[in-house]
Amino acid sequence: MNRTRHDGPLIVGAGLAGLSAALEAAKAGAKVLVVTPEPLLNACSSAWAQGGMAAALTGQDTAALHARDTEAAGAGLVEPVAARALTDAGRETVEWLAALGAPFDRDADGGFVVSLEAAHSVPRVARVGGDGAGRAILSAVVAAVRAEKLIEVWDDARLKALSQDADGRVVGAVVVRGDRLVEITATAVVLATGGAGGLFVATTTPAALKGEGMALAARAGAEILDPEFVQFHPTAIDVGLDPAPLATEALRGEGARLIDGQGRFLLGDEADADLKPRDVVARAVHAARADGRGAFLDARAAIGDEFPHAFPAVFAACMRAGLDPRVSPIPVMAACHYHMGGITADADGRTTVAGLYAVGECAATGVHGANRLASNSLLEAAAFGRRAGRSAAQEVVGGRPLAADISPDLPDAAMAELRTAMTAHAGVVRDAAGLQTLTALIDRLESQHGPAAVLLAARLIAQAALDRHESRGGHYRSDYPQTDMAAVHTRVRIPYPAALE
Ligand code: SIN
Repeated sequence: MNRTRHDGPLIVGAGLAGLSAALEAAKAGAKVLVVTPEPLLNACSSAWAQGGMAAALTGQDTAALHARDTEAAGAGLVEPVAARALTDAGRETVEWLAALGAPFDRDADGGFVVSLEAAHSVPRVARVGGDGAGRAILSAVVAAVRAEKLIEVWDDARLKALSQDADGRVVGAVVVRGDRLVEITATAVVLATGGAGGLFVATTTPAALKGEGMALAARAGAEILDPEFVQFHPTAIDVGLDPAPLATEALRGEGARLIDGQGRFLLGDEADADLKPRDVVARAVHAARADGRGAFLDARAAIGDEFPHAFPAVFAACMRAGLDPRVSPIPVMAACHYHMGGITADADGRTTVAGLYAVGECAATGVHGANRLASNSLLEAAAFGRRAGRSAAQEVVGGRPLAADISPDLPDAAMAELRTAMTAHAGVVRDAAGLQTLTALIDRLESQHGPAAVLLAARLIAQAALDRHESRGGHYRSDYPQTDMAAVHTRVRIPYPAALE
């Protein structure tokens, strides 16, 4: 193993959260090393976000109202202080990104154009280029990162382990570059490793994101919060692609309707029926497909000829699949879209382990609860990412790293088996029998292939889903359909695997 010492924070991941942290840490004077397995802008969910960034930007909106909607969507598990910290940062964050060059859509008076998405009480989602928000925002941030002399990027390095000193403090990480393992010691490690969509066979996120950051943090002793809460997006475009292209909720905000194969409304005929909370709509789509009616998003009347320039990314995805959404309803399915659970972290990214920070989708900061409000993720990534960068910049060197525990890879065939089982048993509708089948599969794969981080990530989700005997937000149990009066978090701490058995 090669060893290198970096005199500053190490940031693992280069989506909006990781790069926002990098920029702020550098602004605070720290030397920053960012490691990511792919060239910048590739293989991170931020670049795929379509809807935009939620923030109170108009006269009819306030940070308090945005926080209230965030809490209502989160089904009892949002931490109010965290939600308010997030929504208070809304305007400042959008303006910071705009100053970096993010080309937010503007109206004739120069104000931000905002659209309506599900469970927002007012239009609040700042858009970029119709449905190109993620890539456009991240491109501006990437340009700023490239111009910053204090930031070095390795875009060919994949996380394999966290390094800890004798006190348990995280003092670096082991990455694989080509065929070499490299141990990097650093003053702090900021995990910005994204979500776990790649654990599911139906996903709207890059398939490479498989919850490994969460698993390695858990193995380092970090607390994991609410891992069972996974959000399924109701309108992934079902044209046989893996990952599935997304049809943004903003389409329904503009009046597109969900129908079945006979043209009947899936959620009723009220004008706002299709903008119910995401978990409700996802279950309706799942049920329509399961009983053979099929599910389609019909944008013909509401958007029609405006489609190509109003929603260019969705239009291009449909046309590539030979489907013209101006004349045909779009076949849709529910697919894994976001992991609300993750590494317990505060708004400054601090986890329960010294020297370890977590930001963006791999973190659970209490702002999403059981069901994330649409377009809060980009806001959280940038706002809390920046805060974490400032905090991590203050960290000082820890002790000498002990030998790190390198996670084995899971062979492709085993990964395919796991993904299929996760979608079948830990997907939109769950029950005890299915979750037990899933945990038995994880046991078997682990005995065959060793303790791969992806298996621990899957186990954290499956076991917490099995243990939660109620339905709440993104977690729906057909054998426990009720929602308990008291909303209680799941908190997992391991030595692995004893506490999970
Ligand atoms: C969408 O555009 O529908 C997704 C937005 C989000 O997941 O926040």
